[in-house]
Amino acid sequence: MSGTDRGAKALPPTAATSSEAKGAAPGKIDFDDYSADYDELLRESTKLYAEDSEYFARYKVDLIRDAARGPIRRVLEYGCGTGRNIGYLQAAFPDARIVGTDVSAASLQVAAANNPKAEFEVEGEGLELGAFDLIFVASVFHHILPAERAAVMATLARRLAQGGSINVFEHNPFNPVTRRIVSTCPFDADAILLKPAELRSLLRHAGLHLQRQTYCLFVPPRLSWFLPVEKFLGWLPLGGQYWVSAGHAG
Ligand SMILES: C[S@@+](CC[C@H](N)C(=O)[O-])C[C@H]1O[C@@H](n2cnc3c(N)ncnc32)[C@H](O)[C@@H]1O
Repeated sequence: MSGTDRGAKALPPTAATSSEAKGAAPGKIDFDDYSADYDELLRESTKLYAEDSEYFARYKVDLIRDAARGPIRRVLEYGCGTGRNIGYLQAAFPDARIVGTDVSAASLQVAAANNPKAEFEVEGEGLELGAFDLIFVASVFHHILPAERAAVMATLARRLAQGGSINVFEHNPFNPVTRRIVSTCPFDADAILLKPAELRSLLRHAGLHLQRQTYCLFVPPRLSWFLPVEKFLGWLPLGGQYWVSAGHAG
């Protein structure tokens, strides 16, 4: 389904759209309930770090664009939510077909309305999308129950083309500022943060070979003079987030 096929507005939260009414695990966040005010909540919870919450999307997409090798014809953002990264992915990979998926249909409605050239699909068993040269996953795994993470990673490995790369960004549990932001953000109420070692292990168990692990988002954008130094600090477990990439062998 393309962005142009979808309605423009997400539904407001109702009892019928609440997570438990849909059979989700107790306490699990249903992002349908946050689709209308996701941007505002994100802005509120991260404003001490960056006044412009778009900064995070730009920053991460810039990193993967600069690291990308070979032709990138198909890009998947898994767990794209309201599509905050999609426009940046389109700008970074202008010749690629961009597909966003998520379990939250209401979030995808917002994403599709804002990104009419991208395609969006609701995640679920049996969703077949073919293979992608680049898979981007930002701030999703900490919302997936630990017992379900391996199955999700296996799905992503199946969707990764030979020669392609999967790029996962996660909150850094070693960073106290990150932990504070997570603890005050309403849609992070179900967050179970992963250490980089867990993410590496998930990638390896899915049969993938690690290409990179680097910490990122060290300093707020207002300290722009420091930003060029960040790329030398990837080893230091103090960044606000970390980035791990992997691909198939060979
Ligand atoms: C914090 S939001 C991040 C959205 C987007 N990646 C971004 O960076 O703006 C987490 C998203 O993960 C989605 N999500 C949670 N569990 C998922 C799963 N098992 N499969 C796909 N998406 C999932 C949620 O619905 C939500 O849209």
